[in-house]
Amino acid sequence: MKALVYHGPGSRAWEDVPDPVIQEPTDAIVRIDSSTICGTDLHILKGDVPEVKPGTILGHEAVGTVVEVGAAVTTLVPGDRVLVSCITSCGRCRFCKEGHYGLCTGGGGWIFGHLIDGLQAELARVPFADTSVYKVPDELTDEHVLFLADILPTAYEVGVLNGRVEPGDTVVVVGAGPIGLATIMTAKLHTPGCIVAIDPAAARLEKALELGADITIDNSREDAVARVMELTDGLGADVAVEAVGVPETFELCAELIRPGGRVANVGVHGHPATLHLEKLWIRDVLITTGLVDTNTTPKLLKLIEGGRLDPRVFATHHFALADAEQAYDVFAAAAETHALKVVLTAVPVGRTLTVAEPEVAVAR
Ligand SMILES: NC(=O)c1ccc[n+]([C@@H]2O[C@H](COP(=O)([O-])OP(=O)(O)OC[C@H]3O[C@@H](n4cnc5c(N)ncnc54)[C@H](O)[C@@H]3O)[C@@H](O)[C@H]2O)c1
Ligand SMILES: [Zn+2]
Ligand SMILES: [Zn+2]
Repeated sequence: MKALVYHGPGSRAWEDVPDPVIQEPTDAIVRIDSSTICGTDLHILKGDVPEVKPGTILGHEAVGTVVEVGAAVTTLVPGDRVLVSCITSCGRCRFCKEGHYGLCTGGGGWIFGHLIDGLQAELARVPFADTSVYKVPDELTDEHVLFLADILPTAYEVGVLNGRVEPGDTVVVVGAGPIGLATIMTAKLHTPGCIVAIDPAAARLEKALELGADITIDNSREDAVARVMELTDGLGADVAVEAVGVPETFELCAELIRPGGRVANVGVHGHPATLHLEKLWIRDVLITTGLVDTNTTPKLLKLIEGGRLDPRVFATHHFALADAEQAYDVFAAAAETHALKVVLTAVPVGRTLTVAEPEVAVAR
């Protein structure tokens, strides 16, 4: 088969690799029908995630079709369409039993495109298949559910739920990339009073308004703290969600919240940030961090099925899976291309690409 293989910092290639095989009776082999690229994949390519060894297939988000199951798999059969999520659950360890699949100590957690071969490939081996994949309802397209593999549950669990967003709250989202925008989309499920998006990129702020932000602040031109204080009668926001991953935005979030407010950190940080306890100790604040567990995936899937959420707006660019290298270039140049999520679609042999079929990959 072909797959996108990481060859060390700055280097990757779409190339021939051996087909995956069942290694454990709990495995399934899934044919990848649609996949996408995450900002984390770009971090890996920069060499920021040294656990990823050269030779690893990248990718941790996909929708596919089961083609083979191991002897112990009881709930899946070849032909089932499934969402393969960024988080795998062994189903047996303490954390999986508590629903904290992200913390799995039984061989799951974030493993695809990290500790084992990933999903930007024609086929993938999926460990703990029974407890890790989600069957896709027939009436939903791949693109309806693809972003449930990462950004939606991440934004909802680590941003909205950790931030305890309540009806009427003023919610500030710092960083309007795919994660920040998905936070805006899923925060609306809790009917906040006002959503404020902060980002220096005009195109991202525009998208934030489209997805339901009420107010946008370009913090390269405006003092975000002063503006949020003005909007909240000098108190500060109820919730600030950090969706960038640099020290200054974490520190900004801590300045933006009211006494008794909440900072929900979603960003992946590579450097220490300063926690101003000398100011915060008296303000009764709550600060949370987290890796996504994906335990809200079934709930989000139901909301998509019921037409209450439509994440297809995140798909800005479409490519054939075989053009993954080109897709990485477009995704990495988001400032110029305005890419949010790129959809990589596998084209069954013999099928031609046409613009008339939106579900079929067309490089635009
Ligand atoms: N906790 C988790 O489980 C988890 C899962 C997935 C991603 N993440 C992390 O979430 C973060 C956001 O992901 P993404 O894919 O949306 O990233 P992204 O890089 O696409 O978007 C980040 C946004 O932040 C904006 N930004 C940059 N500097 C800023 C500043 N000083 N003030 C305000 N905005 C600023 C950028 O313009 C951009 O729009 C990343 O750190 C990512 O690694 C966390
Ligand atoms: Zn990701
Ligand atoms: Zn586990």
